[in-house]
Amino acid sequence: MSTIIVVGSQWGDEGKGKVVDVLTPYVDVVVRYQGGNNAGHTVVVGREKFVLQSIPSGILHPGRRCIIGCGVVVDPASLIDEMESLVQRGVVLDGNLFISKNAHLIMPYHPALDRASEAKLGKRRIGTTGKGVGPAYVDKAARVGIRMADLLDERLFREKLEANIAEKNRLLREIYDAPTFAVEEILGPYLRYAGWLAPYITDTALLLSRWVAAGYSVLFEGAQGTMLDIDHGTYPYITSSSTTAGGAATGTGVPPTRIHGVLGVSKAYATRVGGGPFPTELQGEAAELIRARGNEYGAVTGRPRRCGWFDAVVGRYAVRINGFDTIALTKLDVLDDCDVILVCTAYRYRGDLLTEFPDEERIWNEAQPVYEEMSGWETSTAGVRTLSDLPAKARQYLDRLSELVGVPFSLISTGAVRDDTILCEDSPLTRWFPALRSALL
Ligand code: GDP
Ligand code: IMO
Ligand code: MG
Repeated sequence: MSTIIVVGSQWGDEGKGKVVDVLTPYVDVVVRYQGGNNAGHTVVVGREKFVLQSIPSGILHPGRRCIIGCGVVVDPASLIDEMESLVQRGVVLDGNLFISKNAHLIMPYHPALDRASEAKLGKRRIGTTGKGVGPAYVDKAARVGIRMADLLDERLFREKLEANIAEKNRLLREIYDAPTFAVEEILGPYLRYAGWLAPYITDTALLLSRWVAAGYSVLFEGAQGTMLDIDHGTYPYITSSSTTAGGAATGTGVPPTRIHGVLGVSKAYATRVGGGPFPTELQGEAAELIRARGNEYGAVTGRPRRCGWFDAVVGRYAVRINGFDTIALTKLDVLDDCDVILVCTAYRYRGDLLTEFPDEERIWNEAQPVYEEMSGWETSTAGVRTLSDLPAKARQYLDRLSELVGVPFSLISTGAVRDDTILCEDSPLTRWFPALRSALL
């Protein structure tokens, strides 16, 4: 049995959903540990496309238990929509989905505060998804948040809601000049949501501890990515949770001593949605080419994603912060048409060569990427199933990236569907999930 954390190594949208979907047959449980419905994890099954926002991507495999951990913030209306749409498409949730009673709720005033605060920031806005995720975590840290368990106690829920509304309305009115909320307009719908969600709300930390003790295999599904982590990302251009591997323990209640490994997920290039530093960002036609081939548009907001070359400085940083044992590299096929591919190996800042990711905004804004040029393979890799069937130049590209970041790759993705996946032999993945070996044959 293995308990493995799956973490995005860049700015999100690395293909975590696809990787979790491919690995789920080999585990018993998949648990989300942070973030909320700001996440959009796309999984393509045959001709069908699913976009998971709050529910772990493992739910598409019958019989797998999926948990929304205590570190997640939940918008109940959005979660119920997601649940209904999955049920309509034949996915069984009863007995498979569990929601932590300690997960905090996103309340209607959170998206309102999110939007108002972004508007006030003007040029320095974060470019959030507008889902209220940041303000919900603010309330959690301020100890005024409302949790899933509170939903099930009408008197307590009303009391907490009234106190919050009084404070939030002052903020909205006096600081942001924005519309306010009435207790009753929230209470009614939220009590209905309580009725809907009650059967799923439970002590998920206790469940997990029993399942881990019983030898179940678990995937911890990260949302967003390392560079959006509240402590280790490009602050303040980050999301408001611990996206990195450390968050998996606090966001689920599984102790670090019971977690066996960390799998990073990285694209063969880089993207970012929203504001903030992105040293290898491309502009104009070059960016448009990658955006079009990679279909780089936000799954949640539809915004075009900013696109750029693979940044090995960011890659090494993600390895250091998360302790990746190995990496799953996705979207190799998107580079199939490139005659030349650049890889950033360091930054140049006022005459200095920086090989570690700098943690100051002043430096990010001025640092220039130092590139190594590689020649493209200019052949389709879509659907290739073994490493040896990849063009030699594609293998050289993979070897160089792995060498630059300092960890082996164990899965290469060459298309959105499950089958477009190359599993590397004798990798940490096959050690964690020995049954994967039969998939390699
Ligand atoms: P996540 O948020 O990390 O789960 O990533 P997203 O789902 O937001 O974005 C990744 C997108 O790329 C999704 O539309 C996937 O279906 C798609 N995708 C994943 N792996 C591959 C791949 O290897 N090649 C291609 N062309 N698309 C992929
Ligand atoms: P997945 O899980 C990419 C970005 C937003 C913004 C910043 C803060 O699909 O990889 P927030 O709404 O979280 O307060 O916004 O974080 N962001 C993401 N970018 N993928 C995501 O999720 C993201 N979730 C948030 O664009 O820059
Ligand atoms: Mg995404």
